[in-house]
Amino acid sequence: MTSQAVFVTGGAGYIGSVAVDALLQAGYQVTVYDSLVTGHRQAIPAGAEFIQADLADETALRQALAAREYLAVLHFAAFIQAGESMQRPGMYFTNNVSNNSIRLIETAVESGVRRFVLSSTAAVYAPRDEPLDEDAPLGPTNVYGQTKLMIEQILEWYRLTRGLHYAALRYFNAAGAMPGRGEAHPSESHLIPLVLQVPLGQREKIYIFGDDYPTPDGTAVRDYIHIADLVEAHLLALKALATRDKLIYNLGNGVGYSVREVIETAREVTGHPIPAEVAPRRAGDPSRLVASSERIRRELEWQPRIPALRDIIASAWEWHRTHPYGYES
Ligand SMILES: NC(=O)c1ccc[n+]([C@@H]2O[C@H](COP(=O)([O-])OP(=O)(O)OC[C@H]3O[C@@H](n4cnc5c(N)ncnc54)[C@H](O)[C@@H]3O)[C@@H](O)[C@H]2O)c1
Repeated sequence: MTSQAVFVTGGAGYIGSVAVDALLQAGYQVTVYDSLVTGHRQAIPAGAEFIQADLADETALRQALAAREYLAVLHFAAFIQAGESMQRPGMYFTNNVSNNSIRLIETAVESGVRRFVLSSTAAVYAPRDEPLDEDAPLGPTNVYGQTKLMIEQILEWYRLTRGLHYAALRYFNAAGAMPGRGEAHPSESHLIPLVLQVPLGQREKIYIFGDDYPTPDGTAVRDYIHIADLVEAHLLALKALATRDKLIYNLGNGVGYSVREVIETAREVTGHPIPAEVAPRRAGDPSRLVASSERIRRELEWQPRIPALRDIIASAWEWHRTHPYGYES
């Protein structure tokens, strides 16, 4: 019988922990490998084995991957802030590519792992106004996006040379929460949790970085995707990799919302005025990133269940309202 054990890097993080929960519910045995550099021990679902170690720790990684026969690796561990990646490129190339992902892929393949699912990002594309499908020109505008593109390219060479089956799932903006599990990044850079810090009393106002973009209201436009829908796509991809050796999919709702629209919806959901102030653009921020996810809808019959921005923000608000200090609440 095929092993049903999966190895999840970054399983103590925002998206990884929700994926671990879904994998356990689907009957997989799960090992979480996470240094807790930005993750939380409390986020790891009961029932998962936990190894606290950094991907840069070669000995720990080898031992962990040799401990059992894994069906697949799901690789969520990374540094994730586009803005920070422009300030500290070396930190991003090191943590996301050089030591960590290359050694993980090589060691996994050596240990007999045949399926690999990468958390990639919309930031691999050259931004443009129409919805982006998977054949849209690549061209990251920040170091973070470049690191994910590099990992995708490395995986492609492992497919060609070692027969590794891989999926690169290019998430657009992950958002929303699950009961008891939500966004708790130590240094938050995502719009929805930052906006919600205002009604929580943790921030006086929200800054809008740039209102002179070529978009209808001048603020940047993004496609928000609920983490439950993201995670569902991982389970579908994991199964499909049994027969397919390369899956590149965008994960988004295909609808763009501007920063101002997000703030307005958060005002409606929370009943708080949420004052906003315009500030200069940030380096590396594209004006518009909206997905076409037709390919995964067609090929794997993936269907987002929580596509409405209002529902996404309402689920996030429920988490932040009940956990104002994240897992430390
Ligand atoms: N959040 C988004 O909107 C979004 C969008 C596109 C792609 N992604 C990708 O999804 C993945 C998960 O994002 P998230 O929002 O859950 O981030 P997160 O910071 O909540 O989770 C990342 C996890 O990886 C762990 N980690 C980081 N470096 C590590 C290392 N060297 N060794 C061991 N563990 C390490 C952290 O401790 C953390 O638990 C990332 O790869 C990110 O690039 C996220």
